[in-house]
Amino acid sequence: MPNYLSTAVEIAREAGALLAELFTQPMEISYKRRSDLVTVADRRSEALIVERLRGHFPDHAIVAEEGGGHRTPSDYCWYVDPLDGTTNFAHGFPVFSVTLGLVYRGEVIAGVVYDPTREELFTAERGAGAYLNNRRLQVSRTEKLSECLVATGFPPFATNHDLNIQFYLRLTELSHGIRRAGSAALDLCSVAAGRFDGFWELKLNPWDKAAGSLLVTEAGGRVSDIQGRPFNLLGDDVFASNGLVHDQMLEVLAEVLAQRAK
Ligand code: IPD
Ligand code: CA
Ligand code: CA
Repeated sequence: MPNYLSTAVEIAREAGALLAELFTQPMEISYKRRSDLVTVADRRSEALIVERLRGHFPDHAIVAEEGGGHRTPSDYCWYVDPLDGTTNFAHGFPVFSVTLGLVYRGEVIAGVVYDPTREELFTAERGAGAYLNNRRLQVSRTEKLSECLVATGFPPFATNHDLNIQFYLRLTELSHGIRRAGSAALDLCSVAAGRFDGFWELKLNPWDKAAGSLLVTEAGGRVSDIQGRPFNLLGDDVFASNGLVHDQMLEVLAEVLAQRAK
């Protein structure tokens, strides 16, 4: 593969350094919708990433969260989240990342997620494994849901929050517990790294999950939708796990759904 991943890494590091610098300064928050925050950092990081990507790969399409992408017909499309974890960032809670995923003809082929606070760089290329700071990653080996630590997220605008609260409640009862850390890209990387055994969310955008989904599969895990059907980058929901507890967790989600339908 041409130097897509190394270029993406260089750009993610540069954007991450910008985020880290802006994180220490007073910031102004604006609202896209109620509870859907955006800061100068989101916009400046995106402008930097898009400018760099266009310089390196002028023919590639770019879809970026804040709208500054490059819509052009191409077999290659970069999905960019310039700041994943904006709400955390805006509140001074140091859990956020920058992420770029490259899709070729509908398939994610390379991805990077960079956490500038911990200086953790997660990378993956299709067929070549997943890495954290150049160390090969492997999902956890936990086989019992009762021994799992799992994670979820809630979109910043209300969709299905009550359903997700029911999933949350049931899985809290059945596992070691649930984390809601606030950066979906990092949550997926935590599954790849074996820190979490599973992660699900009901409404994510492709830029939140492009890179992270590849990290999980390249680390030996499984990614599907919440009904166990094949993962769809352009679909709403995502369910990722170490593979071993996938069906057990899906069953719990299905039971909750069945209970609600009664
Ligand atoms: C959000 C984060 C969060 C997830 C939300 C996303 P943003 O992205 O990934 O963890 O729960 O659904 O929208 O808005 O901070 O880029
Ligand atoms: Ca995001
Ligand atoms: Ca974002």
